[in-house]
Amino acid sequence: MMAITMRSLQIIFLLLVVCLSNFVASADGIKYKGDNYTIKCPEPQKDAIGVSLLSRREVGREVLYYDFANEKIAPYKDYKERVKVENDDKTLTIHIINLQLTDTGAYWCTCNTTSNSAECSMAKSGVFLLVHEPPIEPAPSVSANTKSGGMNDLLIPVTALTAGSVLLLLLLVFGVWFVPKVNVMHLKLVACLYIRRSSETL
Ligand SMILES: *[C@@H]1O[C@H](CO)[C@@H](O)[C@H](O)[C@H]1NC(C)=O
Ligand SMILES: *[C@@H]1O[C@H](CO)[C@@H](O)[C@H](O)[C@H]1NC(C)=O
Repeated sequence: MMAITMRSLQIIFLLLVVCLSNFVASADGIKYKGDNYTIKCPEPQKDAIGVSLLSRREVGREVLYYDFANEKIAPYKDYKERVKVENDDKTLTIHIINLQLTDTGAYWCTCNTTSNSAECSMAKSGVFLLVHEPPIEPAPSVSANTKSGGMNDLLIPVTALTAGSVLLLLLLVFGVWFVPKVNVMHLKLVACLYIRRSSETL
């Protein structure tokens, strides 16, 4: 019994350490609405004809496809006019401009070759992007308001915390069930964000 408790404590401690270290490494994935975000797709195998940037939230979608031969970008409609691609010897740097809340999700790159059936290989890539509403300046509190507003003042952060937690948990669940392609790192990041957010608000 004692041994089991010690063991779980050890595991919790380990998870926290992993969490914190990942969090530092991946802090780039947290942005505000209207910001820009840059994703790098690693160089694919030599005979690849193009690279896709894929994304998943509730549903999977292709953000864009870049064709190497004619250097054409085919963006998905949600990202039309909001993506720019720099091609440096087949390593793509993709800028997503004017981030929207709906851009939140996992992002990773794939490539394809002329032989439709063959797997196209490229180094693992992937990020989890979280887009927030920009912070709102707190309105100067009016003393006459304090009596009636007292309850609301408490209710708003509590509601926000609950909503935020539920959203992040949902994202975590979606991640676990539907994003086998994105490596475990990102799921850990989601967990970390959840922990950080809860502690920040408290
Ligand atoms: C995002 O990129 C666009 C176009 O490159 C630029 O005009 C804009 O200032 C950038 N916005 C931010 C917040 O960096
Ligand atoms: C490569 O992928 C893109 C985007 O999914 C697709 O439009 C294109 O037809 C593919 N090319 C081949 C040869 O499969």
